[in-house]
Amino acid sequence: MCSSDLRSRGDGAAPQPEPVVPVTRPVTLPATGEPGSALTVIRADIGECTRCKLHTLGRQQIVFGVGDPQARLMFVGEAPGADEDVQGEPFVGRAGQLLTKIIEAIQLTRSQVYIANVIKCRPPQNRNPEPDEVAQCGPYLERQVAMVQPKLILAMGRFAVQSLLAGSVPQVESQPLGKLRGQVYAYHGVPVVVTYHPAYLLRSLNEKSKAWADLCLARAQL
Ligand code: URA
Repeated sequence: MCSSDLRSRGDGAAPQPEPVVPVTRPVTLPATGEPGSALTVIRADIGECTRCKLHTLGRQQIVFGVGDPQARLMFVGEAPGADEDVQGEPFVGRAGQLLTKIIEAIQLTRSQVYIANVIKCRPPQNRNPEPDEVAQCGPYLERQVAMVQPKLILAMGRFAVQSLLAGSVPQVESQPLGKLRGQVYAYHGVPVVVTYHPAYLLRSLNEKSKAWADLCLARAQL
């Protein structure tokens, strides 16, 4: 049980999630066919992408996504970092190792969930992705979500949250992540729970109990 786990971690009473706020957005209906092969088609469509300037700024390879093409739970981060750029897989560096532990904490494995980023190429010096890069790459994440059809998305960190909820949550870009937590939103009809980015949790140990509460909210939704 999430609440008793919280207590056993010495975090005090379990935080009470606020009421679910459904946000409606147009649903992108998935195409028919095998989700795994459909993801392969999306990856092939991306090709050796030159649609934005990131291909000229030192990216080694495109980091598409990993996991079960029919996963119930999908994790969405910002963009690949140095380790991901080398290995071609999202969340394999230090933040990724924490994400793996987070996934295991809810009795799942990396291969049972789907993990992707909003941006598929590493921004130089891990700078924030820029609007033109999001505009080019965002549709691929949308297609990945439409194929995987997860029951829930965990949006990790301010950038992923803003990208997924832009247009459906008023002034999302000016709201701190801490204020957005605790509610369930929607991205093209898929429920979204907001949580901290694992890289932030590595630096801010005292926020881990909040991340745990977010996971509990996600699990309750599932
Ligand atoms: N941070 C992200 O947002 N994504 C990764 O894949 C790695 C680090």
